[in-house]
Amino acid sequence: MEVSSPMSENDKMDMAGGDQRPDYKNPHLELHPSTRPFVVGYDAKLSAMAIQPPVFRTSTFEFSSAEEGEESFGNAYELPNCSGKEPGLIYSRLNNPNMEIWEDRMVAVESGALCAAAFPSGMSAITTMVIALLVRGGRVLYTDPVYGGTYYFFRHLAERFDFKAVPVDTSDLNKVGNVLAASKEPFDMIFIETPANPTMAETDIAGIVELARCHGEGKTLVAVDNTYLGPVFQYPFELGADLVVYSATKFLGGHSDLIAGLVLARSDNLIKQIKGYRTILGPTIAADTAWLLTRSLGTCWIRMEAQAKGAGKVAQALVTHPKVDRVLFPGLLTPEDGNQYVIHQKQCSGPGSMITFFLKDPKKSAAFRLLNAVRVCHLAVSLGGIETLIEHPRTMTHSDMSPEDLDKCGITHSMIRLSVGVEDANDLINDLFQALNQV
Ligand SMILES: Cc1ncc(COP(=O)(O)O)c(C=O)c1O
Repeated sequence: MEVSSPMSENDKMDMAGGDQRPDYKNPHLELHPSTRPFVVGYDAKLSAMAIQPPVFRTSTFEFSSAEEGEESFGNAYELPNCSGKEPGLIYSRLNNPNMEIWEDRMVAVESGALCAAAFPSGMSAITTMVIALLVRGGRVLYTDPVYGGTYYFFRHLAERFDFKAVPVDTSDLNKVGNVLAASKEPFDMIFIETPANPTMAETDIAGIVELARCHGEGKTLVAVDNTYLGPVFQYPFELGADLVVYSATKFLGGHSDLIAGLVLARSDNLIKQIKGYRTILGPTIAADTAWLLTRSLGTCWIRMEAQAKGAGKVAQALVTHPKVDRVLFPGLLTPEDGNQYVIHQKQCSGPGSMITFFLKDPKKSAAFRLLNAVRVCHLAVSLGGIETLIEHPRTMTHSDMSPEDLDKCGITHSMIRLSVGVEDANDLINDLFQALNQV
């Protein structure tokens, strides 16, 4: 395994300008990230000057000659006869124009990223990345608690894939440092989710990178699940991370109408390894899905900023309701919250739109009365869409966790998770209050 050296925005610009990439592959770092999706990744001249890229709904691509086919495969598989050029279009499990347009645009907007690999779900992005980059018998340290699917993979499937996964509360750097220091061998990867789903616990990304460098003997990669805040409010590569993963199902898709995922890296070598596994294991994103994601990226900034603004108002209101015990929302953090406040101020440019709150009544029946009474909010899992979703982590998204782990992480029956959409904040507040009054 190779650990990348830090890649600055300048390095990325040099790469784009200094190699043989065509101009539309230039990430245009001189522009604001919200502008880049409109100018990167697609050349209208290649598609009858259509302002929007067509959907390339095709499984395979014709070669103009047998020699070109041989050369394409040589480059794709890096065979001895390879000429070192981009492989060209071959077969949609390997590459497809819509997949590449979305990947290129995500590289352009994710500060510090150099390359990306798209996936048909967040879970396939996470699992393929881990399987591709871990050596046999390797070890991962991961955030505890983490999204339920990621928890299941690390807790129950690691052994089947011949690696060891160690859960640690990564919001406490001392705990991480102690585990790393006590280990005879360096870890291969530290996988963090920040803010964590559903506890909202924030992990100091730069602090984790520092610990990885200190104890990792140049081997420990740092991967960040940036689903809750990225790419608008949090930039892990700028803080030294090696890899960023997304459930693109959430804010990147933004409309609750698709399932997708993404891994970004600041080293070509890491993405090459991940794409090699993607080709063989086969989790390839559909052209239609990549097209929808490309369209959604254009509104990502205005959606996420509007949602964060609405969430701020909803969180402020929830705090005042007599049936509510506690509200966890980064925008409510104050210096009294100590380290969590410091981390948030240091690494995030906005609060996002996820809120976790606790009812005073600890019973499941109280939480269910609330969930059954909402009329504007939708009772559904997932997050990041334009409509507000409300759910009960203990019996829904995190129900795969053992009761002991749920208790340890504070995922109680009184915990409610809210993903705030773009509706009028007063309508959401009125809806939540009438439902809370029925608890
Ligand atoms: C933080 C986080 N990471 C990863 C995932 C998995 O993504 P997907 O459902 O797209 O596979 C989720 C899903 O909810 C999530 O919330």
